Amino acid sequence: MCGSEGPRRGWGRCAPSPMLLLSLLASAAPLGLLGEETRQLFEFDGANTSEGAKPPGEPYPPYSLAKFSWNNITDSLEPATLSATFRGRPTDDPTGAFANGSLAFRVQAFSGSGRPDQPPRLLHSADTCQLEVALVGASPRGNRSLFGLEVATLGQGPDCPLMQEQHSIDDEYAPAVFQVNQLLWGSLPSGFVQWRPVAFSQRQRGRESALPCQASPLHPSLAYLPQSPIVRAFFESHNNFCAFNLTFGASTGPGYWDAHYLSWSTLLGVGTPPLDTLSPLVLGIMAVALGAPGLMLLAGGVFLLLGHRQCSEYQRIN
Ligand SMILES: *[C@@H]1O[C@H](CO)[C@@H](O)[C@H](O)[C@H]1NC(C)=O
Ligand SMILES: *[C@@H]1O[C@H](CO)[C@@H](O)[C@H](O)[C@H]1NC(C)=O
Ligand SMILES: *[C@@H]1O[C@H](CO)[C@@H](O)[C@H](O)[C@H]1NC(C)=O
Ligand SMILES: *[C@@H]1O[C@H](CO)[C@@H](O)[C@H](O)[C@H]1NC(C)=O
Ligand SMILES: *[C@@H]1O[C@H](CO)[C@@H](O)[C@H](O)[C@H]1NC(C)=O
Repeated sequence: MCGSEGPRRGWGRCAPSPMLLLSLLASAAPLGLLGEETRQLFEFDGANTSEGAKPPGEPYPPYSLAKFSWNNITDSLEPATLSATFRGRPTDDPTGAFANGSLAFRVQAFSGSGRPDQPPRLLHSADTCQLEVALVGASPRGNRSLFGLEVATLGQGPDCPLMQEQHSIDDEYAPAVFQVNQLLWGSLPSGFVQWRPVAFSQRQRGRESALPCQASPLHPSLAYLPQSPIVRAFFESHNNFCAFNLTFGASTGPGYWDAHYLSWSTLLGVGTPPLDTLSPLVLGIMAVALGAPGLMLLAGGVFLLLGHRQCSEYQRIN
């Protein structure tokens, strides 16, 4: 999808417009989602697992996204918000797990830079688009089901994109999350994927509904060669594919079981990823925290000086 281009195409130099990004996504995404055996939605039984276990529980049979049927994208295009939603459910659903549920991929382009109202509030620019994945209303197969997604990306040459973790002391935009994960294509990034390692178990996103999101290392894979001619033409055929797994939640804390809701979002883009500087609030706190002792030292120094002077004056008078 957008952002997974090699430097040969020169997108870094000539960034596409938001509308072009959106239409590319809208035309490539359903074909990318369909017809591939390997992209899957995982479900694990997290009832009896320890913290940090991999996989995070006994796996249930995965849902293959290739066997989902998807809505007609035309009906979900929202030109006002530059967004479109692909909503799918398994074509064959003998247990009726998806009778009232769906897996949705919402893509949104931006006309300028800014930040969404809802956490994780990643900084975006006109060269980026957001992909939001939401599992809503599907019946889990266990009381403590954890979900995961297998993500396939394009590699560059023989290598997989670089996975990077960036840490910050600032959590103003995503409470208690001090990390941003990135996939970078090339050392002078020609494209990137960026996300905060957090998912949410309620529509109302906040600290109470935040779940950890874990990413496995990337592995090169030959299994992801897209069948679609458009995808093949768009991404040069000699690019190799890489895959990694994302898992959402832990056996304790909030989870999908709370409201049968799970959402996770990521930012895809061309060029260098937007850089989050410290927020005004944190800068203010730092200024106060670092400034107050400084002011006290200064005040103390002035006080001492005055005291010394008074003392010496006193001595002189004597
Ligand atoms: C959880 O695992 C422990 C040890 O592996 C086992 O003794 C226990 O019966 C398990 N509990 C459940 C509910 O499966
Ligand atoms: C999708 O919907 C539009 C109008 O709503 C229609 O013109 C188009 O044929 C539909 N496409 C498919 C594949 O059903
Ligand atoms: C789906 O929703 C209907 C109506 O709310 C309900 O009767 C039914 O039990 C639900 N099915 C599942 C599998 O949750
Ligand atoms: C889910 O919990 C209920 C009540 O706590 C229990 O009766 C049921 O066996 C559990 N189901 C599974 C699949 O663990
Ligand atoms: C993702 O997890 C599933 C289930 O644990 C596993 O079969 C698969 O090989 C993993 N894929 C990658 C790319 O790690």
